[in-house]
Parts: sequence; C-alpha cells; structure tokens
Amino acid sequence: MNFKATLNTYQKRVESGIDQWVPSGDTKPSQLHEAMRYSIEAGGKRLRPVLVIATAELFEAEEDPIPAAVALECIHTYSLIHDDLPSLDNSDLRRRKPTCHKQFDEATALLAGDALLTLSFEILSKAYDQKPGLANNLVAELSKAAGSQRLIGGQMEDILGENSDYNENQLNYIHLNKTAALLTVAMTMGAKIAEANEEDLQKVTLLGRNLGLAFQITDDILDATSDKETLGKPTGADQEHEKTTFIKLFGLDGARAQVEKNTESANALCKQVSGDSSFLEALVGYLEHRLN
Ligand code: IPE
Ligand code: IPE
Ligand code: MG
Ligand code: MG
Ligand code: MG
Repeated sequence: MNFKATLNTYQKRVESGIDQWVPSGDTKPSQLHEAMRYSIEAGGKRLRPVLVIATAELFEAEEDPIPAAVALECIHTYSLIHDDLPSLDNSDLRRRKPTCHKQFDEATALLAGDALLTLSFEILSKAYDQKPGLANNLVAELSKAAGSQRLIGGQMEDILGENSDYNENQLNYIHLNKTAALLTVAMTMGAKIAEANEEDLQKVTLLGRNLGLAFQITDDILDATSDKETLGKPTGADQEHEKTTFIKLFGLDGARAQVEKNTESANALCKQVSGDSSFLEALVGYLEHRLN
C-alpha cells in the first residue's frame, strides 16, 4: 500500500463528489452558491471524508461511501465558516484564502454555512434512498455528532472557556465534542455503510475518539508553534483569545505527550479491527507529525 497515492486517490474522489453534490456557483442566488463553493473548494485536507471512505473500504462496503463523505465535508466546512465569524474566533484566513465573511460579507457567510449544513442531510436522504434503513442511520449519526451535545456543544464551551480558568475536564469536553465528534462519526458512518459488526463499530468509535483528541491537540500545538504560511490560517489566535487548550494547562511538552498517548491508543485500535488497516495506521502516523 502506497499511503500518499491512496490518500490522493481518496481526496480526488471526495473532490469530484463535492462537484457533483454541491450546486454550481451560477445557481440562483449565485452569491450564496458561490460562497458555499468558495469555502468547500478552498482545498482542505479532506480528512473526515477520507476517513469515511477508508473505514468503508476497511470493512469492504458494497454501498458507495462518497455521498456520506461529501455530506460530512459540508458539515465540517459550515463549522469552519461559522467558527471564523467575528462573533466566534474572528479569523481572516482559512485554507490559505480570505475567510468566507472576508471574501463576501458576514451575512453571506452565515447563510452559506446554514445552507451547507442543510445540504448535508439532503445528500444523505437522496443518495441512500434505495436503502432507507441505512439513510436513516446515517442521518441519525451525523445529526447527533453535529448537534448541541457534540460539535455545537463543544463550540459553545470553547467560547465560554475564553478568559476563564477551565480545568482538564472542561477542556476534554471541548476537544471531544468540537473536534472528535466529527472524526468519530466519519468512522462510524463508514462502518455503517459497510455493515460492520458491533465489535468493529465499537472499536472504530474509540479509534475516532483518540484520533480526534490527538488531532485537536495537534491543531492547538500548531497554533502555538507554526506560521500562517505553513498552516494556511492565522497562528497565535488561541493565546490571543485566551482559549482553554492543553498548552495553556500543561505546556507544550505536556500537550505533545498527550498527542503521543492518544496516537498510541489509536494505533493499537487499528491493529484490533478486522480487515486490512494498513492505510488507517499510516494515516494515524501521518497526522501525528502533520505540519498543517
Ligand atoms: C480544522 O480542521 C478545525 C479543527 C477541528 C482543528 P482541519 O485541520 O481538518 O481543516 P481543513 O479541513 O484541512 O481545512
Ligand atoms: C474549531 O477549533 C473546531 C471546529 C468545530 C470548527 P479551532 O477554532 O481551533 O479550529 P481552527 O484552528 O480555527 O481551524
Ligand atoms: Mg474555534
Ligand atoms: Mg478557530
Ligand atoms: Mg485551532
């Protein structure tokens, strides 16, 4: 297995899925659809949709994972557009480009996010309509992961945790929900598409949790140590907003040790799932040392 080539193939499949499912920029009202396309085509790493495909293939899915992968990338992109708004993280750069509200305006960015969120469920219900049980399962999983007790709950606590003395428990809540929820649901959606057994489903859920924690702590480390050219988004923002991060609570070394611990757990789980998990293992290793 050539990791980089496989990753590239998966990313290409995601890009063409996005092109197929997201309305073109000239669809009325064009400003809205241009803004949706602008942000989703800006070129993220496509980690979450890649995880959907990789997990579906791990368990030898017969059903097409691409619509589910695209639906998840729509939710992720919406969460980034809204995360960057002046009332949240007030960020000007995303995926090496001006953020949606800088390129367009705040109202358009708000609405483009709303529309991407809704589109994701339209995609799921349309694409899997021949398998209503699966469609229902995917909608249930994704709506829960993106909802008020997961992604949005994490974002709320992230904002409330600014300039505060949040403790480790509160920090874990933030990371588990604002980030690990979507990485986990990527894997559980892939597993459900492949009709994986209950044991494998539990293992990938735990894998997503560990990978998600490592991923967000690494994001915090990069915010503190990288530069905006490498990262494609501003750095130093967490300290500026006095966000609660592992670095704030345990220092850089403490944060790095935590990434190592979560990565080890993720690796161990990769080895326990049935099927050939060599791509997933390589992905876990790659993410531990990522530069952006
Ligand atoms: C950024 O996610 C937001 C976090 C949860 C840290 P990514 O680092 O996956 O962003 P893109 O999709 O590659 O732009
Ligand atoms: C955001 O965490 C997670 C989301 C749900 C969008 P951050 O606020 O740290 O993400 P970046 O650093 O802006 O990408
Ligand atoms: Mg944020
Ligand atoms: Mg942010
Ligand atoms: Mg960050």
